[in-house]
Amino acid sequence: MTLPGAAVVVTGAGSGIGRALAHRLAAAGARIVVNDLDAASAAATAQAVGGLAAAGDMTDPGDVQALVQLCWDEFGALDLFCANAGESVPGSVATGDASWQSAWEANVMSQVYAARYLLPAWLERGRGRLLSTVSAAGMLTVPGMAPYVVSKHATFALAEWLRATHAHEGIVVQVLCPMGVRTPMLDRVAPLCSPMLEQSAIEPELVARVAVEALADDRFLILPHPEVAEWYAARGSATDEWLASMNGLHQQLAGLGSTT
Ligand SMILES: NC(=O)c1ccc[n+]([C@@H]2O[C@H](COP(=O)([O-])OP(=O)(O)OC[C@H]3O[C@@H](n4cnc5c(N)ncnc54)[C@H](O)[C@@H]3O)[C@@H](O)[C@H]2O)c1
Repeated sequence: MTLPGAAVVVTGAGSGIGRALAHRLAAAGARIVVNDLDAASAAATAQAVGGLAAAGDMTDPGDVQALVQLCWDEFGALDLFCANAGESVPGSVATGDASWQSAWEANVMSQVYAARYLLPAWLERGRGRLLSTVSAAGMLTVPGMAPYVVSKHATFALAEWLRATHAHEGIVVQVLCPMGVRTPMLDRVAPLCSPMLEQSAIEPELVARVAVEALADDRFLILPHPEVAEWYAARGSATDEWLASMNGLHQQLAGLGSTT
C-alpha cells in the first residue's frame, strides 16, 4: 500500500507494539489516529508522531465506532486500521469467568467491533486494510496462559474468516504474530509462563519494521520470529508429536522434569 498520506488508526498505541507501529507508519508519511485506553499515553504518542489522539476503550462498541468515524471525519479516509489493543490474561480452566470474559472482550470482540464498523465504507469503495495484532500464541500455545491463548486463537480465526470472506472485494487482512516482545505486557506475563518468551524476545521497533514491510506484499501471516512458521507447520503435519513436545514443555516448566 502507499503509506505517504495514508489515513491510519492504531489502537493500543500508547505503549509497546502499537506505539512502535505508530512511529514507523508516521515516519513513512502516514497520518495517524492514535488510540489508547489511557488518554495520557495516547496523547504522548500522538504528539510524538504528529498524529491525532483518541482515547477510547476498544471493548466498547460505541468507542470503536466513534474512533472509526473520527478518522473519516478528520482525514477524509481510513486506509489502514491496526487492531492492536489486547490483553494478556494468564491462567487455566480454574481461572474465574471474569478473567475469561475479559480476555474474550479485549482480544476478540474488540476486533469484531472494528471489522463491523470498518467494512461498510471499505466495501463501498472497494478498498481497505486491517492489520490485526494477534500473537504466536494464536497459532501455537503457551504454558500458563489459557485465556490468552484461547482468545488469541479466536482473533486469528476471525482474521482468517474476514480474509476468506472479503479478499475478492478489495479487503486485505493481515495478522501480526510475534512471540515475546519487550513491552510492559511481557514484563507482566513472562514470569507466569515460559522463560523461553523472554529469551527469544525482540524489540517492538523490530516488530513494527517487519509489519510495515509486510504491508507491501499483502501476505496474511506476518512473523517477526521466523521460527514460528516452522512450529506452525509441525503443528499441522505432525500434530501428536507437536502436542507431546508442548506437554513436555509444560511439565518442565511445572518442575516435573519431563524427558519428552
Ligand atoms: N508483548 C508481547 O510479548 C506480545 C507478543 C505477541 C502479541 N502481543 C500483542 O500485542 C498487542 C500489544 O501488546 P504490547 O505488548 O504492546 O502491550 P503494552 O501493554 O505495552 O501495550 C498495550 C496498550 O494497549 C492499551 N489497551 C489495552 N486495552 C485496551 C483497550 N481495551 N482499548 C484501547 N487500548 C487498550 C494499553 O493501555 C496499552 O497502552 C496485544 O494485542 C498483545 O496481545 C504482545
